[in-house]
Amino acid sequence: MTTEHPSAFQPDLLAGRVALVTGGATGLGLEIAAVLGTHGARVAVCSRKEDNLRAAVDQLTAQGIDAMYGVCDVRQPDEVAAVVDAVLARFGRLDVVVNNAAGNFPTPITGLSPNGFKAVVDIDLLGTFHVSKAAHEAWLGEHGGSIVNISAAIQYRGMAMQAHVTAAKAGVDALSRTCAIEWGPDGVRVNVVAPGGMAGTEGMARFETAGVVGGQNPLGRVGTRREVADCVLFLASDAASYVTGATLVVDGGGWLADGRISGATTVGG
Ligand code: COA
Repeated sequence: MTTEHPSAFQPDLLAGRVALVTGGATGLGLEIAAVLGTHGARVAVCSRKEDNLRAAVDQLTAQGIDAMYGVCDVRQPDEVAAVVDAVLARFGRLDVVVNNAAGNFPTPITGLSPNGFKAVVDIDLLGTFHVSKAAHEAWLGEHGGSIVNISAAIQYRGMAMQAHVTAAKAGVDALSRTCAIEWGPDGVRVNVVAPGGMAGTEGMARFETAGVVGGQNPLGRVGTRREVADCVLFLASDAASYVTGATLVVDGGGWLADGRISGATTVGG
């Protein structure tokens, strides 16, 4: 967890809980894992790259967090189910699932192949479906819990060079609401955190490299991973016990703006 400010939450907010964060080896996913872990959760992270996962678990462990990793591609249902099983074998329960794994590359539609479009929809949308379904089948459906899906805010208005991502994230938003309806009776809350561009993430680096600049936001600055992770913590916790099917936009109000509000330039907001 970055230490930009002390936590506003009780340190034992998630005591006794177990969380799984997809794409949790780096960037925002690792920040979310650290924030959940430093508030009492035991944490599992998964992604495709074992080297990154090992380093992530070392970092989490150094922060005093009981952490494990599982290697999987969220596009592969069998691999996802195996990771969920491994989490249950190690920790004995699963309370919080954060669907954070995502793919992104900025490209205009004219440069986007069918397979490029499909790759991002497969990771973001089908990946969220596979992980949510596996977790529901293996544990949440019987015991309840909380799913937080990381979406985006660019799909509300559209964004150049992001056709594949806006389509995928709109699907994540819709899927989340339907999961909330179907699984509410099981005690499963399903919510969305919709971040704008954040400093220090791979997605942001790719946009900067491509020279893509989005609108400006009313708060006048780019957000931090910690600011997004804190919102995931809130939705994952009992503080949000009556919140399901909601989308919490965490983009400094960027999606509302039209590039006409003065302030720091941001990406994806
Ligand atoms: N511009 C246009 N097309 C691109 C591209 C780019 N910059 N990068 C990848 N693609 C296309 C590939 O050409 C391929 O299509 P093709 O078969 O028609 O040539 C397709 O996307 C799949 O590429 P591949 O490298 O095989 O996919 P992958 O499954 O290994 O990787 C990606 C997934 C493509 C999403 C990859 O960019 C990724 O994993 N990114 C890291 C995650 C990330 O950016 N996270 C931040 C989220 S905000």
